[in-house]
Amino acid sequence: MTDTTHLIGLLLGTEEDWPRAFEEILRRLGPVKGPGGTRHSFDCERVTIEPFGLRDRPRYDLAIDRLAYWYYHPREWLKKVALMDSVYLLNSPFTFQSMEKHAAYCAMMRLGLKVPETVLVPFKHPVDNARYAYTAAKYNQAFDLDAIAERIGYPLFMKPYDGGAWRGVSQIRNAAELHAAYDQSGEMLMHLQRAIEDYDVFARSLSIGAETMVMRFRPDQPMHLRYAVDHSFLSPQSGREVVTIGRLVNAFFRWEFNSCETLVKGTEVVPIDYANACPDVALTSLHYYFPWAMKALVKWCVFVLVTGRRPRLDLDAGRYFEIADDAGASYAQKLEAYRELADDYFETERYEDFCVARLPHLDEIVLNWVAGPGFDQLLVRTVRSE
Ligand SMILES: Nc1ncnc2c1ncn2[C@@H]1O[C@H](COP(=O)(O)OP(=O)(O)OP(=O)(O)O)[C@@H](O)[C@H]1O
Ligand SMILES: [Mg+2]
Repeated sequence: MTDTTHLIGLLLGTEEDWPRAFEEILRRLGPVKGPGGTRHSFDCERVTIEPFGLRDRPRYDLAIDRLAYWYYHPREWLKKVALMDSVYLLNSPFTFQSMEKHAAYCAMMRLGLKVPETVLVPFKHPVDNARYAYTAAKYNQAFDLDAIAERIGYPLFMKPYDGGAWRGVSQIRNAAELHAAYDQSGEMLMHLQRAIEDYDVFARSLSIGAETMVMRFRPDQPMHLRYAVDHSFLSPQSGREVVTIGRLVNAFFRWEFNSCETLVKGTEVVPIDYANACPDVALTSLHYYFPWAMKALVKWCVFVLVTGRRPRLDLDAGRYFEIADDAGASYAQKLEAYRELADDYFETERYEDFCVARLPHLDEIVLNWVAGPGFDQLLVRTVRSE
């Protein structure tokens, strides 16, 4: 019997809750049988930040990244190990760096999704660059902010093109608020986006590999109250559409650990936010859904490592655009065609079979852990920020 040990690297910022949970579940899982009588064991380490040679060989087989979106030294390490050493990354640092929320809006509009009308306006304050004054004087067109807002229609949202954590997001109801928000935007680059009013449900979906959990989200509530425990808040059709949109965004950009926000109004599903390189998986906000998230993360890592799934650094945009450009296909038919591509990328069926055949005991392992004192301790330490 061939024995293989796989090393998983966790690239972390300040979080302790989910890494402790992940490490514990992986430890309890033990070795997993692979194809052809192989046996796979898993070790997990936290990646430290230090100088690295570009030809150095990393010890890791897979890395879960929660840091590179703001800390650039490890971001460049991720790119090096992806390009040179085929280390499997749950998210592509290449597309996360180049595809801000803005580019994701563009791509999803190109695919025909119902992204609200959105306009990008130039910086309010001069950019800190010696060439700015000359360039702006020569090429910046004067524009009428009020006219743009009126064309989109009030109320609208002003928010940064690269968004995250509600930084700089404001709801605008009239011209006075519009100018106040724009004056305050300073050197942030801002979108104006039509507001979806009186929506029925805010559905936030968290995707980890081939799995997606759609949760009823209440953005006005604090902490754990934001994610309501509710299992039938969408019609089957809207539920499928929400899952498809999340999976489509992820497959398109090669993101495997991401969240997607959609507003559902009647039968319309409107995506408003995706490209979250570091989606919320905190114990204190996910609460009920936390064990699911940890299980999905362990399962996806194990599936990737045992089956030898290869990372894809390229995009396959042309195949998606072909569907988008099919004049004879309805929106529903296009969604189904995207879903097929996305499920193909994530090997959804193979993953589900793998979990049934190789990880049938994981549910019980996680249940035992959650019901025991270890989880209780984790909860107390997290709430006390230890
Ligand atoms: N077009 C819109 N229509 C209605 N509500 C919106 C719209 N855009 C944003 N919002 C509201 O503003 C919130 C913040 O916007 P958005 O998610 O785009 O910013 P963010 O900085 O990425 O936030 P986060 O990191 O919390 O996801 C949304 O959760 C939603 O409640
Ligand atoms: Mg958001």
